[in-house]
This record gives sequence, C-alpha cells and structure tokens, in this order.
Amino acid sequence: MKTFVLASQNKHKAEEIKQILCSGFEIKTMDEVGLSDFEIIEDGNTFEENAAKKAVAVFEKINMPVIADDSGLCVDFLSGAPGVHTARFAGENASDSENIDKLLFELKNVPFEKRSAKFVCVIALVENSADNIKYFRGECSGFILNEKKGTSGFGYDPVFYYKEYKKTLAELGEDVKNTISHRYKALKAFSDFLK
Ligand code: IMP
Repeated sequence: MKTFVLASQNKHKAEEIKQILCSGFEIKTMDEVGLSDFEIIEDGNTFEENAAKKAVAVFEKINMPVIADDSGLCVDFLSGAPGVHTARFAGENASDSENIDKLLFELKNVPFEKRSAKFVCVIALVENSADNIKYFRGECSGFILNEKKGTSGFGYDPVFYYKEYKKTLAELGEDVKNTISHRYKALKAFSDFLK
C-alpha cells in the first residue's frame, strides 16, 4: 500500500480525500506526522502554485511522498473570483457563513442563469524530488443559489447548486458529492496515474 502525507490542516478535506481514495492508499494527515502546527502561506496566483507550495514545503520537512490540494470557487459573473482567495473571500479567518454572505451580496439581483460557477481542485504530487511535481485537476460546474440549502459538506456547499441532481452539494450529502466533485475528479486522475 502506498503512503502519502496530505499537506493540509483542513480536517474536513482530509476526511473527504480519505473517503474518496479508500483502498490502495494510506493517507497520513499533518497531525499524524508531527506537523500539526506547520502553516504554509497560500499566496500564489493560481491553484497550481498554491498546491505546489504546500506539497514542496511538507516534502522538504519530512522527505516522504506528499500530496497537497488547493481548491476554490470561480464564479463567471465575478470574472472567476474568488478563485485562489475563496477561503478568505470575506477577509482573513472568515467563517464559511461570512464567505457565503459576501458571495450572495456580490451576486444580489443577478439572475439564476448568470450565476454559473465552478469548483476547481488541483492536486500537486511530490513523490521523491521537489523538482518533479505532478498536477491533477478536477472541476465541478454548477450555479450559485441566492439562499442556503442543505446541511452537509462544508464551505460553499449550501449555495452551490448541481443542476443534474437539482440539489445543492449540501443537500446531496457526502456520498453523492464524492462521486461528482472537483476533488473526486482530481483524485481520480491522481489514482489513475499511480495505477
Ligand atoms: P483551500 O483549498 O484550503 O485554499 O480552500 C479553498 C476554499 O474553497 C475552502 O475554504 C472552501 O471555502 C472552498 N471549497 C473548496 N472545496 C470546497 C467544497 O468541496 N465545497 C465547498 N467549498 C469548498
């Protein structure tokens, strides 16, 4: 079984990643390798830059294969924003609900058909050299509702409407979300690459 360290302090993401990858991989969290306080500043201009920065920083600390994910929401009406600023859209340390409120404010009075958006996830893999980084990208397209619906998931899930199932990701629940999400698609590309 291959072991990878996940360069993320986000426990919810770690859960999703473990659930999606299931057998064949062992994913160790930063806690499990003694890096619970290790913070990496995400100041890149692209998802790829941020994912690589996290993967390389952790690889240089522990010299074990590392994956790092960087993800975010790109809203067409906002020219792709919040993009790499998704986690702190409403400010440094903003909560999920503050970020959602800011997004709904920015899209106030914008009709449904102009509220198209996509979640993007980029996984960077550093297996044995910081000079050799592999990238895997997944995207999930939908629309931003003007109110929250559903309680599962995290982040912007309650306002992200997945048209094919006529529900938000928060209404769909983890099991279904993990078959269609941006993270699922990026992880699928990653696991196919390793096969
Ligand atoms: P980062 O990848 O840790 O920089 O965080 C990106 C931000 O995007 C998170 O804090 C969430 O707000 C948002 N995000 C990423 N993936 C998802 C998802 O699957 N559902 C809802 N929000 C997400």
